[in-house]
Amino acid sequence: MIFKKFGIHVRVLSTAVILISTSTLTLGYWGVNIINQFVTLRFSQRIDFMTQYLALNSELGILIDEQRLLKGLAQNMLGENDIAGVVIEDKRGRELVRETRDIPGPFKTAGKWVYLSEPKDKNNPMSRINDNHFDSERIGRVKVTYSTKGIEDLIKKMTLRFILIALVLILISCLIFYVISKSLVTPVILLGKIARKVSLGNHLIRAPAGNTPETIKLADAFNEMLDSIALGRKTIVQAYEKMAKQETLAEVGKFSMMIAHEVKNPLGIIKSSIEIMKKELNIPRDNIALTYAEEEIVRLNDLIESFLMFARPARPNFEKIDLNRLMDQVIMGFEIQYNSDKIKIKSCIPEESFYINADFDLFSRGVTNVIRNACEANQGQGSVDISIEHRNKKWQLLVKDQGPGIPKEKLRKIFEPFFTTKSKGTGLGLAFADQVIKTHGGNIKAENRLSGGALFCVTMFSSLKIEETQGILE
Ligand SMILES: Nc1ncnc2c1ncn2[C@@H]1O[C@H](COP(=O)(O)OP(=O)(O)O)[C@@H](O)[C@H]1O
Ligand SMILES: [Mg+2]
Repeated sequence: MIFKKFGIHVRVLSTAVILISTSTLTLGYWGVNIINQFVTLRFSQRIDFMTQYLALNSELGILIDEQRLLKGLAQNMLGENDIAGVVIEDKRGRELVRETRDIPGPFKTAGKWVYLSEPKDKNNPMSRINDNHFDSERIGRVKVTYSTKGIEDLIKKMTLRFILIALVLILISCLIFYVISKSLVTPVILLGKIARKVSLGNHLIRAPAGNTPETIKLADAFNEMLDSIALGRKTIVQAYEKMAKQETLAEVGKFSMMIAHEVKNPLGIIKSSIEIMKKELNIPRDNIALTYAEEEIVRLNDLIESFLMFARPARPNFEKIDLNRLMDQVIMGFEIQYNSDKIKIKSCIPEESFYINADFDLFSRGVTNVIRNACEANQGQGSVDISIEHRNKKWQLLVKDQGPGIPKEKLRKIFEPFFTTKSKGTGLGLAFADQVIKTHGGNIKAENRLSGGALFCVTMFSSLKIEETQGILE
């Protein structure tokens, strides 16, 4: 269970270290052992060969008891590496020659008998080296003392080198495995971190692609999952907002019923009472107090009218309508209204017809609200540009003004009911326009113009056949 505590990184790395070091050390140990055995064997063979060679060459010197010859042979032998001493004895063990040299030990001694024998090939004394001497007569003995320090040093050096190489190999492979396991584990750790950030509310963050095809695929799949979560979230939020809106609208519906009965009717009674008062009490028509009261009654009535229109929209009475002619009428109304004003209404309405199925009255009121806002934004000066473009089945109305424009943070709110920045505004004009245009299958958008002022764009689509929209079948 302790194993569970270790991460992939530690597991991969420790497994790699154990495997690599065991295999390197085992193989290396075998290799060094074999080489050691081989080197030691060759060394003892060399000593053996040299001793045998000395024994053969000493034969004559022993026979004729020629000490100078034997001494020369012994000194020759001492010239060889690792030889520390040479002793030549006769068959009774009497020392004929002893030559030594001072070299560091440890030492070993190899001995060979000197036999009296007839050479088979007189021209080649070496042919006697491997002869069987059992039946020949022993005439003396050579003893060669040699130092094993050189060979032991060599073996030590080789072992040391092997350990060093093994350590370097283990280190290099550990490094390689470290890099490999890190490259495998890092993307997984990163995904974990990203998942935590997402759970903390950062829904825009995405996983970077890794270096390998597998990690790239993993990051892609992870990001796709985040995308679908984000989409699901958005849908839930939208559904929730829609639900909340519907609940509000239902409340508004109830409220509008109450207003219709409890406010609008008394308002009518107040209005007619004032009329009666004026007549019966002979109050002049231009009485300031009563005129104020009447004006306020009219304003209140307008407010209630527009509220009821928004809260309890009339069932649209769809019929085939030419939108361009509808706009001609709407604009004419504005031209009359703003005739004495400094505001200029510039319009560019195409001559051709564009037919859609619409409720003339509702649609006129919807666009009227948009154009009225533009005129109000202009604050009694400048011009309001109204233009229409249509192609195939798409119709677009552009209303441009020269007012202050709409602050960015308010752009989203202006279509909400009761949102107003005007002291005497109702905040229902655009909400109504939006409602009507959507009922007709179109949409309305607002933006700020680069040259200043706001731009409202109403887009409508015709469900009629193309020839019909262009009025060819009229
Ligand atoms: N053309 C425009 N330029 C600047 N602001 C506008 C324009 N049209 C609408 N708005 C903003 O949108 C708000 C809502 O408009 P609307 O629904 O017609 O209500 P109201 O006109 O009664 O205020 C306005 O109060 C105003 O702040
Ligand atoms: Mg308005």
